[in-house]
Amino acid sequence: MAGTITHASSLCGSSRTAFGKNRMVTRPALRDELDVRFLATSAFALLALASALSAADGFAPMDFNLYMQGRYVYERNCIVCHGPRGDGNGELSPTLKPKPRSFREGMFKFRSTPLGMLPTDDDLRHTIRSGLSGTAMGMFSQLSTDEIDAVITYVKSFSRRWRKPENHAEPIQFASAPDWLKEPAALKNHAAAGQKLFAVNCAACHGEKADGKGPAAITLKDIWGIPAAPSDLRQSHLRCGDAPADIFRVLATGLNGTPMVSFDSTLTADQRWDIIAYIFSIRMPSGPVL
Ligand code: HEC
Ligand code: HEC
Repeated sequence: MAGTITHASSLCGSSRTAFGKNRMVTRPALRDELDVRFLATSAFALLALASALSAADGFAPMDFNLYMQGRYVYERNCIVCHGPRGDGNGELSPTLKPKPRSFREGMFKFRSTPLGMLPTDDDLRHTIRSGLSGTAMGMFSQLSTDEIDAVITYVKSFSRRWRKPENHAEPIQFASAPDWLKEPAALKNHAAAGQKLFAVNCAACHGEKADGKGPAAITLKDIWGIPAAPSDLRQSHLRCGDAPADIFRVLATGLNGTPMVSFDSTLTADQRWDIIAYIFSIRMPSGPVL
């Protein structure tokens, strides 16, 4: 246990060094410098934390070892952006747009679960492994399965929402994409229908041309008080993914904490596929034109 404590506190001390996977090095000198009083206080704090974690309102008690391993992974890989307190205010944060997520509200945009619900562990694994295209959130494909599970446990420790069963939900089940998506002539007809639906349901924010410049765009804010820019849907790489099914999923789940709500009850599945056909018909082959 003493080894773990030393480890964790040395990480705090070195979090201001250069950004990169291997920036954290073991620092035996620092270990020697730690005085007994500090160790005693840390041990007491960790014991209190351990009991708080396992008491977690009777829901999903956290595994303490996984939590400590997750903290280590987080301090090596995530802290520069998501910050020591998980509030999204890491060292790099001021320069980034969109800003790194604050984990303290327990609100996650990219999920398979209904609007307002927490993501599943698979959703978080996907975000961490694949990154979010077009943002500073890169791919962490070099992390092992264990490291990802551990860092997920640590991310969850920042918000009490995880402890309440009513915030958890099963993923929404989706039918597979229609075959006509692969047939150019059919795609064209569906896209024409989709364009009309898009004008009514999406253009106020995303703009008639889906370029993200709708009349309401400048007024939008997210729950973190930051202007929420409607995505330019012509981009070939969206954060939610590149496939038609990825857009279908966003239309069902909405993006928690943002003005992008769910269209699960307002648009039928057929209408949503038509809209997706429209979006694909105007897609740019590569990134957005600046
Ligand atoms: C270089 C900066 C940076 C680093 C390093 C980084 N992230 Fe992120 N992360 C971001 C940004 C920016 C966003 C917000 C993107 C958005 O709002 O579209 C984000 C969002 C997220 C989200 C929320 C996704 C959602 O559905 O809302 C999770 C979870 C996440 N990061 C986990 C991690 C973990 C775990 C690590 C370390 C293994 C990490 N991030 C490292 C910048 C970073
Ligand atoms: C009230 C405004 C509003 C309306 C209406 C709206 N959106 Fe959005 N949408 C947004 C905002 C804002 C975002 C970006 C949220 C964020 O990440 O902060 C977004 C994000 C998205 C994304 C995710 C893109 C990515 O990068 O992964 C998709 C897909 C999307 N919208 C499609 C649609 C479609 C299709 C419609 C109509 C059926 C629609 N939206 C209606 C505001 C809106």
